[in-house]
Amino acid sequence: MIHIPKSEYGRRRKALMAQMEPNSIAILPAAAVAIRNRDVEHVYRQDSDFQYLSGFPEPQAVIVLMPGREHGEYLLFCRERNAERELWDGLRAGQEGAIRDYGADDAFPITDIDDILPGLIEGRDRVYSAMGSNPEFDRHLMDWINVIRSKAHLGAQPPNEFVALDHLLHDMRLYKSAAEVKVMREAARISAQAHIRAMQASRAGLYEFSLEAELDYEFRKGGAKMPAYGSIVAAGRNSCILHYQQNDALLKDGDLVLIDAGCEIDCYASDITRTWPVNGKFSAEQKAIYELVLASQEAAFAEIAPNNHWNQAHEATVQVITAGLVQLGLLQGDVDELIASEAYKAFYMHRAGHWLGMDVHDVGEYKVGGEWRVLEVGMALTVEPGIYIAANNQTVAKKWRGIGVRIEDDVVVTKTGCEILTHGVPKTVAEIEALMAAARAQAA
Ligand code: GLY
Ligand code: MN
Ligand code: MN
Repeated sequence: MIHIPKSEYGRRRKALMAQMEPNSIAILPAAAVAIRNRDVEHVYRQDSDFQYLSGFPEPQAVIVLMPGREHGEYLLFCRERNAERELWDGLRAGQEGAIRDYGADDAFPITDIDDILPGLIEGRDRVYSAMGSNPEFDRHLMDWINVIRSKAHLGAQPPNEFVALDHLLHDMRLYKSAAEVKVMREAARISAQAHIRAMQASRAGLYEFSLEAELDYEFRKGGAKMPAYGSIVAAGRNSCILHYQQNDALLKDGDLVLIDAGCEIDCYASDITRTWPVNGKFSAEQKAIYELVLASQEAAFAEIAPNNHWNQAHEATVQVITAGLVQLGLLQGDVDELIASEAYKAFYMHRAGHWLGMDVHDVGEYKVGGEWRVLEVGMALTVEPGIYIAANNQTVAKKWRGIGVRIEDDVVVTKTGCEILTHGVPKTVAEIEALMAAARAQAA
């Protein structure tokens, strides 16, 4: 299995600690277990920041980073070994495992945190934490601070600054290392395989969930624990619902199906959208819209390179899509004016992409000092233009209604432009029709 090597977690902790102010402490909790219903839990997914700094996969754990501390800078609070609980729920690293396998300098039982952590915080000037994102943890933190305050008469010194960890950490996460790109390539490869399998299986008379099952099969077979987000399998008019998740409608002859799905490998997401005809053959109108979206995506790729700014790719898609909609008669008027008035948003209402990484909509600022961020080597993003003509849109000729097309790929900025991680899925009309025809011939 391709994964982030253990040594990388240590490098990340060091890099973060090097940026922290002197005499400070950073505290991060693991994700809580989420109850699905009564005794049933959701599949556990570690918090991305916690995972980024530790690779530690268990709940009920807290990372403490204390740059410059003589007796160890990286402390981990985690569950103790427990033969009975492990019999029911699976193995735990315990404190020994936290040190041996996860590089902690020292480890303590999570049940001792209230006794130990105030003493670690005391005397540090600044506390870095993800303030505001986890109210329960924020309350604990204040409790620990109050323990120190209550001992002020004994000379205890509470910290006097609380700093949001997000800025430092999320900026680090924005730049992907070689190891991260390798994992993202693997997630992209498996997801590409999943889209191909769904294309091959596509037939009128199946349901949207029939194709979702094909995706899930490839994800799990490839070693992914779960999709990176709820898969969107949207046929016919559902393709115009941007975050459609019902996935239970019939696939009909003559309709398109839009699939937006990607798996997660070692907590790194992939995010692919392809749109194809259920019956394997694009109609004239479907093809016209599809090729327009594809042309806009090609124009966006050309804008992704170091020193170009974040919004250039989006602007390129808007330009191509607006001009194309005018040519097809779906918009009337001057292209520049239609862009200025945002008339294109009736058909293309979302942005051309987002940062991609451990979170599918990954962390990192899009603007710096009020200006669009300039792209740099190692940044990963999606490129996902689309055109959606709602089934009830009375302003366009009937033949266009109910067509929704999005094409989405994942890229990493390189020295000379960008690497397309998700190149493995057919994309041109000819490629898609050929793949689907071959699958039908084989099945016949
Ligand atoms: N799958 C969510 C997105 O494309 O942003
Ligand atoms: Mn997507
Ligand atoms: Mn996306």
